[in-house]
Parts: sequence; structure tokens; C-alpha cells
Amino acid sequence: MSSDQTIINIDSIEKKSDSKQSKSDVTLTINAKEITAPATLSVIQALWHAGYPRVKGVGCLDGVCGSCRVMVRRADESELTMELGCQLLVEEGMSVFFSVFDTPSRHSYKLSEIDTSWDVQTEFHRIFPEAEQCRHCNGCNKACPKGIDVEGGVDLAVKGRFREAGEKFIDCVMCNLCMTGCPEYIDPNHVGLFSRRVTGYFHTRPSNLINQLEAIRTGELSVVTHAVDTQSSDLEEGQS
Ligand code: SF4
Ligand code: SF4
Ligand code: FES
Repeated sequence: MSSDQTIINIDSIEKKSDSKQSKSDVTLTINAKEITAPATLSVIQALWHAGYPRVKGVGCLDGVCGSCRVMVRRADESELTMELGCQLLVEEGMSVFFSVFDTPSRHSYKLSEIDTSWDVQTEFHRIFPEAEQCRHCNGCNKACPKGIDVEGGVDLAVKGRFREAGEKFIDCVMCNLCMTGCPEYIDPNHVGLFSRRVTGYFHTRPSNLINQLEAIRTGELSVVTHAVDTQSSDLEEGQS
């Protein structure tokens, strides 16, 4: 999560008013505070409905910015799941905890200091030496609210397959939950970001050209080519 994202901490926010309860409402706890809200609302909306005001740093509310990460325990379930509060509908008996841990990455680099694409793999292992130590414990996959195969992406990057690795992370919102679940401190989401960056930096071609080539490959677009008779052209030019 970037430093300008604000972590939601409702413990420091005063509730303004009690809202009225209706039949379709559910009761849940958010950071151990009991809240009643319609089941059609997201966790974030439920907070507002219950009287907690909007404060600065409200995120995208659309599953994109990753700033509303929450841990969730559903009624009668012991397992904790990681979710995005703006995307999660409230349920009866649910316990929700906003994640407030700070997770700065310890991996820094400048793409401009990587001379050529031949150096990318060596640089990757210098920048992310822990990546090779991946335990394949599935912790990052379980932590990811976007359902990304994080472990698979790290594995591809370790093997130098950065384009494929980067594609695994297309939906990543940099919520950092996979970082918190990694016992090897790999920072898997930053492995994904690195993979996408180097792919763009060293390999991007114009997308319209790629689309046209793909259309030709699949037969969607047919191209008629004419052989040019250079000798007769030269002759004609010479004759004129
Ligand atoms: S890959 Fe990591 S940072 Fe990206 S969405 Fe999943 S848990 Fe969040
Ligand atoms: S949590 Fe870390 S060690 Fe475990 S699979 Fe993911 S990247 Fe590998
Ligand atoms: S507020 Fe942006 S992902 Fe939830």
C-alpha cells in the first residue's frame, strides 16, 4: 500500500447517531463494535449506515485501491478470510477487523539501472533474494482477496518468466495482504509489480500492432500480399 493511502481505523472515530433497525437488517461486529445494517450494504457502507462518518482518505469503494482490507470471521466458521471491505456484503454474526498493520516493502530498485533485458533475471535475484526460498505454503494465495495465484506468480518470476508472472498479478490492488501472509518476507505483490514493470520497460510493443498481428495469426484478418517484380520496375523506370 502506498504511503498516501489512509488505513481505516474506526477505533478513533466517533459514532454520530443510532440508526433504526428493520427486518432485513443483520447484526455484526466491526473492530469489536456491534453494528446493525441492511444485508444489502458493504462493510464500509454499513459503517456509514450505523452513524460512523466519512473521514478523509475514503478509498475507491470499487475494489481497486486496496485500502479497505479486512479480516473476516463468518458466523459458525473458525477460518479467517481476507477481503476488501468495500466489496464485502455484511452478514449476520460476521466479525470484521480492519487491518491496520504497516507493511513497507524492503525491496527497492530503479529500472533505469538495469542495462538490458539480459540482466533482468540476475537483477531480480539480487533485489528479491528471498524469492527462491518460497516454501510453496499457499499462505499468499489464501490471503489474497482478489483470488490471484500469487504463489504461482512468484514461481514464474523466480524462473525468469516475467511476462507470465506479471499477467498473474493483473488484478492486484496492492493491498499488501499477501506480504503479511509470507513467512519468507518475499513481498510477493512487489515481485508481481517488478514483473509487470520489466515487461513494460523492456518488451512493450504498440498494442494496436499486437492486436493486428494476433488477428492475422487467428485468420480473423486476411492480408493479401503482392509479389513485386523489382527487375521489371527498374526496367520501366529506366525506359521512362
Ligand atoms: S496479490 Fe497481494 S497485494 Fe495483490 S491483491 Fe492479492 S493480496 Fe493484495
Ligand atoms: S506466502 Fe511466501 S513462502 Fe508461502 S507460497 Fe507465498 S510467496 Fe511462497
Ligand atoms: S475502498 Fe478501494 S478497494 Fe475498497
